[in-house]
Amino acid sequence: MTQANRKLVVEKTVEDAAAFAAVAMESLLCETISKRAAAYVALAGGTTPHMLYQRLAGAVLSSAVPWQNVEVFFGDERNVPLDDVESNYGMTQRTLLDHLPIAPSHVHPMRADAGDLEAAAAEYEQTIRGIVPVVGDLPQFDLILLGMGADGHTASLFPGAPALREKQKLVMAYHVPVLGRQRMTFTLPLINAARNVMLLVTGEDKADTVARLLSDKETDQRDLPVSSVRPKDGMLYLILDAAAARKACVK
Ligand code: 6PG
Repeated sequence: MTQANRKLVVEKTVEDAAAFAAVAMESLLCETISKRAAAYVALAGGTTPHMLYQRLAGAVLSSAVPWQNVEVFFGDERNVPLDDVESNYGMTQRTLLDHLPIAPSHVHPMRADAGDLEAAAAEYEQTIRGIVPVVGDLPQFDLILLGMGADGHTASLFPGAPALREKQKLVMAYHVPVLGRQRMTFTLPLINAARNVMLLVTGEDKADTVARLLSDKETDQRDLPVSSVRPKDGMLYLILDAAAARKACVK
């Protein structure tokens, strides 16, 4: 991926990084909707986005975006019921979506609690294909928000995962050995087809992995799933706080 389609932002604090990401998302959604009437977004789970979602749900940004024109998907999900405290959908509902004027029909949870996970993944892919505009032969999200684990996973693409090598399927479910649990996740072809990918990474515990990600040495990026996030024609926004960027050679 060239530096041309990557924008690196390092903010002093985790609050500042969340604030930057919130304003960037707001302006991207407003610009998209002004040009194309609708915006297609996939949200991330985990804990990092909490502050970002709370900002977006705040009075200023929640009224700035025509949220009724936004279709919301999820980049990955845990194998738990949607109302489980571990659910990415549940967390996003509580911190963001419950505070926005978005019709439930515009929010598309991954059913990673289904009995037949492979069928559920295939069904979710069909839902995406039926709603998100296709460019070339792939659905093109306007924005995919991602986080990163300290092991370099993103969405639920973990080191060594078969899903990392998937070239056809856009959504996959598989057993994650390190978690001992099933996960459902976007695959790289879908992620890298997006117009914009926003990777929000904060905290000292991510500093070593961020240094590997930003290293010019290919060996540093071996078995580092997040380094495969390279939007083909889109922009990658890498938004960090100083703690996460501390060990990286940031030019
Ligand atoms: C999930 C996320 C996952 C997350 C990373 C970072 O389901 O957990 O989608 O990819 O972004 O694990 O998690 P934290 O933000 O909690 O560090």
